Amino acid sequence: MKVKVCMGSNCTLLGAMNLLDQIEDLKKLTSRDDEYNDRELDIEVVKCLGYCKESKGNISPVVVIDDEVVYNATGQIVMEKILKQKSK
Ligand code: FES
Repeated sequence: MKVKVCMGSNCTLLGAMNLLDQIEDLKKLTSRDDEYNDRELDIEVVKCLGYCKESKGNISPVVVIDDEVVYNATGQIVMEKILKQKSK
């Protein structure tokens, strides 16, 4: 599973660094768990994905989980989506 965390300036200002820390912690935790470790969590830090420039409203921070774009990403939302995907 590929998780892209946008670290452009808008997303960073609105908490992307904290999100990245949480996702990295989740990766460490799930890699020890047989239930989840069949799908490796591949975390990629990316520069601005461009969504903040296309949108009129605030959509940062942005995380992309496989092909799903998560706007206004919070730790809870991202964790739930990753765990749901990993348990499939
Ligand atoms: S800074 Fe994240 S989408 Fe632009």
